[in-house]
Amino acid sequence: MKRIGLLTSGGDCQALNAAMRGVVKTLAFSGEAVEIYGFLEGYKGLIYGNFQMLTGKDFSGILTKGGTILGSSRTPFKTIREPDPNGLDKVEAMKQNYYKLKLDCLVVLGGNGSHKTANLLREEGLNIVTLPKTIDNDLWGTDMTFGFQSAVDIATNAIDCIHTTAASHGRVFIVEVMGHKVGWLTLNAGMAGGADIILVPEIPYDINKVVDKIEERESTGSKFTIIAVAEGAISKETAKLSKKEQKKRLEDYPYPSVSYEVADQIYKMTGKEVRVTVPGHTQRGGSPCPYDRVFASRLGAEAGKLILEGEYGFMVGYRNREIVKVPLDEVAGKLKYLDPDARIIKEAKLLGICFGD
Ligand code: F6P
Repeated sequence: MKRIGLLTSGGDCQALNAAMRGVVKTLAFSGEAVEIYGFLEGYKGLIYGNFQMLTGKDFSGILTKGGTILGSSRTPFKTIREPDPNGLDKVEAMKQNYYKLKLDCLVVLGGNGSHKTANLLREEGLNIVTLPKTIDNDLWGTDMTFGFQSAVDIATNAIDCIHTTAASHGRVFIVEVMGHKVGWLTLNAGMAGGADIILVPEIPYDINKVVDKIEERESTGSKFTIIAVAEGAISKETAKLSKKEQKKRLEDYPYPSVSYEVADQIYKMTGKEVRVTVPGHTQRGGSPCPYDRVFASRLGAEAGKLILEGEYGFMVGYRNREIVKVPLDEVAGKLKYLDPDARIIKEAKLLGICFGD
């Protein structure tokens, strides 16, 4: 008999359900008796003992369903050691609930912050297996996270839709893409959507280079320009500031986000009409794409296998086209950034895409 806890933590994404289904199906088909405890709304459910007992049936028909049947929430790692408003020790509470239910393992589906907490619980002696979820693809230790490809599809579709109207009106269009502090999503959606300029956090931009590219296009007969801007994009000047100065700058920041700043600068420098589109949380919504359904199912199956073999303390990841197990202490606390010297960036530049550098 195996008693397994499951939770989904942090910002949701597509294929969370597909991944959980993969874990549960693998355990169910192994012939081993299993009890599944689904903690609701991420670590909150584990802290406050808020869970539901689930059976294989609960995971039937959810392969294609977006969101998470368990709900999710953010429980910031930086305050995890601080007592809650009622003085409850959150880490101790999670351990107590784990032991009370006599769990053999806790499966955590999460991104960066969630992995820090998962690793802390491992250090505290709990058996943990994790799965890499996030549309940002910024998790260390895996070349790909599930949710990413689905989000690339949605962001690409947004750019595709903008393309036709941009061409009709001869305007400059900015599409702001999610991705937190990294540019994976923007780079991939930008290339897939044929963006002329792509601005990512890892390559601070010079607005003059952006304007040069718009003018170069105009001089060769292209009346419109599409710019994919990562929500975390940063100018060369801002990048030179210390973290403290950057924070201070944001306090008096007059724009809703960086895209509006870029738009304003382009307008002031060229007099051109600029429009900003922010697909926002649509990028995390809807059904997982076929790639993510397969990918998350595979990761889930491998997580189930680890549990059956009693191998704990790992994230199931994907490296060099192989599913691998990565020790949690290698994953926790590191971000996977785009490498500005990566082949894909060089190839994008060969295609004439400007990165504002
Ligand atoms: O990490 C996923 C993500 O969608 C990021 O791309 C984005 O910056 C953030 O979450 C948005 O968070 P929230 O849903 O809390 O607004």
